[in-house]
Amino acid sequence: MSDITFRHFEWRDIPAITAIYRPYVTDTVITFEYDPPSEATMAGRFGAMVELGHPIIIAERGGEVVGYAYASYYRTRVAYRFTCENSIYLRQDMVGQGLGGQLLDRLIDDSRAFGFKQMIAVITAERANSVRLHEKAGFVHVGTQDNTGFKFDRWIGVTYMQKAL
Ligand SMILES: CC(C)(COP(=O)(O)OP(=O)(O)OC[C@H]1O[C@@H](n2cnc3c(N)ncnc32)[C@H](O)[C@@H]1OP(=O)(O)O)[C@@H](O)C(=O)NCCC(=O)NCCS
Repeated sequence: MSDITFRHFEWRDIPAITAIYRPYVTDTVITFEYDPPSEATMAGRFGAMVELGHPIIIAERGGEVVGYAYASYYRTRVAYRFTCENSIYLRQDMVGQGLGGQLLDRLIDDSRAFGFKQMIAVITAERANSVRLHEKAGFVHVGTQDNTGFKFDRWIGVTYMQKAL
């Protein structure tokens, strides 16, 4: 994985980010969206984070985007402003090689620098690799919700993990 470089988000990343996210929407319960967002929708979402100055990190290999991570408000009510929720998505051929941990470590550093004090990971209950990834980065389990999502004709629970930054 030594050929991976990391940098901040740029607008030209939108098509790659949209393509990376798409199969997780169409084929998995990792995200609770049903319909893959368009590039315009993703540009709107990332634009909102850019305006706020929230951290967005891009992993690149050979000039191609192979993963991304961001931290943005966990909830938008003002008293939550020091608390962020993280997201990490790898291109599917990059899963299982440790890149997620590298992105998470960088995201934690950038989130701390931004001024966030708490980071929350919201993980679909059955994703053992994501739970392990966050445990390794010092997150602790703070709760679960059973059957709060419904996708592909079944109920799905959610695990919450938290790290003080
Ligand atoms: C989740 C994700 C970010 C993890 O990144 P990754 O680089 O693929 O992580 P790895 O597969 O290397 O696994 C992380 C850890 O989980 C462990 N792990 C993998 N599968 C596991 C399983 N079924 N049970 C227990 N542990 C498991 C790995 O061994 C590794 O631990 P280690 O470093 O101690 O060996 C990445 O797989 C991804 O983008 N997945 C799709 C999107 C997603 O789920 N995002 C998280 C939502 S916020």
